[in-house]
Amino acid sequence: MKLEKFKDPLPIPPVLQPKWKSSNYTYYEVNMKETKQSLHRDLPKTTIWGYEGMYPGPTIEVEEGERVYVKWKNELPEKHLFSIDHTVHGAEIAKPDVRTVVHLHGGRTEPASDGYPDAWFTKGFTVKGPFFQKEIYEYNNPQSARALWYHDHAIGLTRLNIYAGLAGFYFLRDHHERLLNLPSGSFEIPLLIQDRTFHEDGSLSYPKKPETNPSGIIPSIITSFFGDTIVVNGKVWPFLEVEPRKYRFRVLNASNSRFFRLTMDTGQLFFQIGTDSGFLERPIGVRSLLLAPAERMDIIIDFSNMDGKSIILKNDAPTHFPIGDPVNPETTGIVMEFRVTKPLSSIDTSTIPANLGQINWLQANSAQKKRYLELSEERDRFGRSLFLLDKMMWDDPITEDPLLGSIEIWNFINTNGDDHPIHIHLVQFQILERRPFDVEYYKKTKQVRYTGPGIRSELGERGWKDTVRCPPGHITSIVIPFFPYTGQYVWHCHMLEHEDYEMMRPYRVIPPN
Ligand code: C2O
Ligand code: CU
Repeated sequence: MKLEKFKDPLPIPPVLQPKWKSSNYTYYEVNMKETKQSLHRDLPKTTIWGYEGMYPGPTIEVEEGERVYVKWKNELPEKHLFSIDHTVHGAEIAKPDVRTVVHLHGGRTEPASDGYPDAWFTKGFTVKGPFFQKEIYEYNNPQSARALWYHDHAIGLTRLNIYAGLAGFYFLRDHHERLLNLPSGSFEIPLLIQDRTFHEDGSLSYPKKPETNPSGIIPSIITSFFGDTIVVNGKVWPFLEVEPRKYRFRVLNASNSRFFRLTMDTGQLFFQIGTDSGFLERPIGVRSLLLAPAERMDIIIDFSNMDGKSIILKNDAPTHFPIGDPVNPETTGIVMEFRVTKPLSSIDTSTIPANLGQINWLQANSAQKKRYLELSEERDRFGRSLFLLDKMMWDDPITEDPLLGSIEIWNFINTNGDDHPIHIHLVQFQILERRPFDVEYYKKTKQVRYTGPGIRSELGERGWKDTVRCPPGHITSIVIPFFPYTGQYVWHCHMLEHEDYEMMRPYRVIPPN
């Protein structure tokens, strides 16, 4: 289907209003609902699932340390929008088709409110998963300013529930951020970027089976989803009219599997100021931004003196990053357009500060424990490809059990061909290095033989992170402090087709003695 580009203005999701706010706490209710929404001027309305009936969901804005309660309510219909593969872990036929649970990605959240995949619930909390603990989630927000996001995490359904529309932004604010004098208010814009495929009738299309399907199972999980249309904040290839001044963009790749490498057709620089989990120490000027699923970037674009110009935000990351098909320059290679057509409403006094704050860098020798965890490609009992974490399945006993207050180094040994974005709940971490190694030798002997020196992380990754790209043929090492809660969480690949099919493991933070 051919949809014209830059026909719809970029929507900005509204900020969610609390049901109750006092000096002690803030209380929100969020209803997940099915609705029809126009995603492009020339496309019939699309049935979506949205928090508060909106795709993407409303933005939640909180202050560091604010005590926030959210009642996430499932008001969805009984029938799913997509077909469900019941051979996938946790999605057995006996379970209800429409199950939801909400995870605040990047939050330091108590286990009972973290959106454990088996803590799902149905409409009216009628049926609940084995790990369900409470209806009202509690977020204490003990974190500095950053962009988190909330999304569905139901076991065996996450890829389909997020694809249906269940994702939104959650901005944490603090005093330090306000002192930085960054572009703010209407000059701070969230960009939630995804790929989708549509049927002629406007409905979302998600494959019922992989292109080659030796297993014969239908519906069957696919190894990764790549759509042919780019959607930003719920509009297909939108445009944004801007003033000739600086804007701050909070960029999130909320795709199922697609990586984005963003550039501007003017060749101008993005000024990156933050990562997944807060500010860099200093801004950096970069020509391209690489974002794996779930990664965020905090950037400033300077449109001053560009009156009348239009700038196209492009993407050139291949599928199955870094080895798959190149983008189509007419479709997946284009994200959106900025038009510098608005008159300057006031003098731009915002800044790109030379110093954004200090980061407490963790040294490798501060770690009490090192783990080596393989990311491998395997075959399931039907001959389908699947990816495992350290050759273990979701249901295998817990093997990662860090002590509360300890620091660990996790080394992800990637022996397959895909770059996997690994996300760990509860914590933030720093990247130590990525080091090439002999994959074939490792597969035969389980011994690591490095084939080159360690490579430092990219400039734009030198800050706190909660999701890390683990490229093929490399051992990616991260250093992680585990606090402030004990209890059971998960870590997983954030390509949703992988996490839904065994590339996810429980882990437990245990009390020291
Ligand atoms: Cu954004 Cu466990 O996920
Ligand atoms: Cu993966």
